[in-house]
Amino acid sequence: MNEIMKVIERRTSLRRYKDVPIKDEDLEQLLYAAQRAPTAGNMMLYTILLIRDQHTKEVLSKTCDNQPFIAKAPLVMVFLADVQRWFDYYLVSEVKEFCLRTGLEFRGPNLGDLFISVSDALIAAQNVVIAAESLGIGSCYIGDIMENYETHRELLGLPEYAFPIAMLCLGYYPDDYKPTVRPRFEQQYFVFEEKYHRLNKEELTAMFAQRDAAIPRPNKYGAENAAQYMFARKTGTAFAQEMDRSIRKAMENWQGGNPILVDRHV
Ligand SMILES: Cc1cc2nc3c(=O)[nH]c(=O)nc-3n(C[C@H](O)[C@H](O)[C@H](O)COP(=O)(O)O)c2cc1C
Repeated sequence: MNEIMKVIERRTSLRRYKDVPIKDEDLEQLLYAAQRAPTAGNMMLYTILLIRDQHTKEVLSKTCDNQPFIAKAPLVMVFLADVQRWFDYYLVSEVKEFCLRTGLEFRGPNLGDLFISVSDALIAAQNVVIAAESLGIGSCYIGDIMENYETHRELLGLPEYAFPIAMLCLGYYPDDYKPTVRPRFEQQYFVFEEKYHRLNKEELTAMFAQRDAAIPRPNKYGAENAAQYMFARKTGTAFAQEMDRSIRKAMENWQGGNPILVDRHV
C-alpha cells in the first residue's frame, strides 16, 4: 500500500483534540491542499471560512445539533458553495450589458450553479481531510451546518449565493488516542457494472446483517432492527426536519431569478 492509501485507510473521524492550536505551517498546507483540488471549469466555486473565535465555535456547537466537541476543536473550517463571487464579477464586468448586446440571456444563480459549487466545495474539503490526516491532524465533518440557515447566515456574514455545505472540526490527535476503524458496506452492494442494480430484500438483509447484529437490544427507541434504529436516530429526527426546512429556505434564492436581486450586493 502506498503512503496515500495508508493515510486513506487510517483516517477516522476525530471528535477529541489535543489542546494546541494548528501550526501556521500546517494550516498553510491544508489550505494549499484545498486550493489544488479539482474544481469545475477552474472556477473555484467555494469559500473557506476559518473559525477560531471561541464564541463563534460555541454558537456553532449549539446550532449544529448541540455537539459540544465543536467548541473544543482548535480549528473549524466552514466550506461554502459560493457563486456570489462569480456573479458579482459578472455584474461589475458588465456581463448584463454584454448579454443585451449579443443576444445572450442574463440570469441569476440557479440550481445547476448550486450543485456544481457544492461539488467544488466538498471536493476541496475532502482534500483538506486527507492532507490533515497526513500531518497528524484529525478531522470530523459536521453536516448540521446546513441547519439553521438564517442564524448561520447572520453569524458568518453570508451573502445570498454562498451556502454552507460542510463544516470540518480539525485538531491534532490526543497523545492517548486509539482510532477505531469503522466497517463499511461490502463493495458488491454499491459498485455495479454499467447499470444500476436495485437491491432486493434478500440482498438488503445480507448487506445490513453486520449493522443489524451491532444495534443495542433492547434500545430506547423500541427499534427491532438496524433500519428502525437508524431511522429513529437520523432520518426521522427533528434535526433532519430542520435541515430540510433550512435548505428549502436557502434555496428560495437559487431559482435563476431576477438578476437585479444580485445587483444589490455590488
Ligand atoms: C457529510 C457528513 C456529515 C457528518 N456530520 C457529522 C456530525 O454532525 N457529527 C459527527 O459527530 N460526525 C459527523 N460525520 C462523521 C460521520 O459520522 C463518520 O464519517 C461516520 O460515522 C464514519 O466514521 P469514520 O469517519 O470514523 O470512518 C459526518 C460525516 C459526513 C461525511
